[in-house]
Amino acid sequence: MENFIFHNPTKLVFGRGQLEQLPSLIPDGVERVLVTYGGGSIKRNGIYTNIMKKLTDNGYEPFELGGVEPNPRLTTVNQGADLCKENDIDFILAVGGGSVIDAAKTIASAAKYDGDAWDLVTKKAQPEDALPLGTVLTLAATGSEMNAGAVITNWETNEKYGWGSPFSYPVFSILDPVHTYSVPEDQTVYGIVDMMSHVLEQYFHTPTNSPVQDRMAEGILRSIIEAAPKLLNNLESYEHRETIMYAGTMAFNGILQMGYRGDFATHNIEHAVSAVYDIPHAGGLSILFPNWMKHNLSVDVSRFKQMATRVFGVDPTGKSDEETALEGIDRLSQFWSSLGAPTRLAEYDIIDTKLELMVDRAMKRGPFGNFTKLHEDDVRKILQMSL
Ligand code: NZQ
Ligand code: ZN
Repeated sequence: MENFIFHNPTKLVFGRGQLEQLPSLIPDGVERVLVTYGGGSIKRNGIYTNIMKKLTDNGYEPFELGGVEPNPRLTTVNQGADLCKENDIDFILAVGGGSVIDAAKTIASAAKYDGDAWDLVTKKAQPEDALPLGTVLTLAATGSEMNAGAVITNWETNEKYGWGSPFSYPVFSILDPVHTYSVPEDQTVYGIVDMMSHVLEQYFHTPTNSPVQDRMAEGILRSIIEAAPKLLNNLESYEHRETIMYAGTMAFNGILQMGYRGDFATHNIEHAVSAVYDIPHAGGLSILFPNWMKHNLSVDVSRFKQMATRVFGVDPTGKSDEETALEGIDRLSQFWSSLGAPTRLAEYDIIDTKLELMVDRAMKRGPFGNFTKLHEDDVRKILQMSL
């Protein structure tokens, strides 16, 4: 393992009815709270009313920023930062999925920065301070509730980048599986694909001594594979919503990545695709990831074989390592497809017309990936395999 320091400051408040804790979790001295949310799901399922009542009953002055888009946009972030500056906001409460949380993280830093939030996203400037934020998670997917990352889209330039700083960790995140009951089937599936992809991005790392991390990753994947079809049969199963919600947070809060660096090349390519076509993040991942795997099989076939045998139970008897590995990749693809996730970009009407634009956007920051470095030709090939 490489040397590491692990520190995750987010207080995780998990379970049924945990929203009751909200007032006691907001830091002392806070008066004005900006509540950020998306397109209205929290109004339909009652979470909005509940939260607003808790805030006002406890003496907080609530402000709101609704309408945060899936694949949140820079324009909305700048609007939120202005709102914070104008109203002297001292705490942000993000209520929603990854998009709402990522927008809130970026607003929190932009509110303390004298300039355009894009400077922070593109790392032209480093935040020196940020407003504190908390989250009430309503969709299990990104892990944003317990990490410092945020992904923002600049729709004018077709760029979508992840960024983060130590200031971006939520102070607390409230995770009540009941809050995810109303997530529709397609978003539930996207969430499952996203969290599995996060585990896989970390699972594919360069050789190092990581038996514990590997087994934890495999355990999370196997638990998701077991729970997912059952959850899709009953979207209001507390037991399965609970498993999936916990898995999503554990997949991407840093515990799997101690002692090595994950790959995240597939995420980078997907961000380029959704910056050009505005498709759901995990819809892109379910198409791209198996092709990234096939393209990079020869980098270290043993890791692909390990995934095949340990996660999908592929029997390696009488097969070459490569055959076993490929069977594992097919099993992954079939699993996602059995849940209803897409397998080809054509399913989003994406053909090769903007392929070069996507390659260009993926390469904006130079070659990427840690399992192996991807160059322009690799990205083009993976996108072509995915059409
Ligand atoms: O906007 P509302 O009306 O709330 O509806 C949302 C949205 O349409 C809906 N939804 C959320 N909770 C719901 C619900 N509908 C009914 N009931 C509920 N309880 O779901 C839709 C999608 O929401 P969104 O937040 O966009 O999904 P997700 O959590 O998958 O976030 C995707 C964004 O996160 C980024 C992605 O790139 C994308 O921009 N990512 C962030 C990461 C991070 N910060 O660590 C890592 C990820 O890899 C990812 O890149
Ligand atoms: Zn993701």
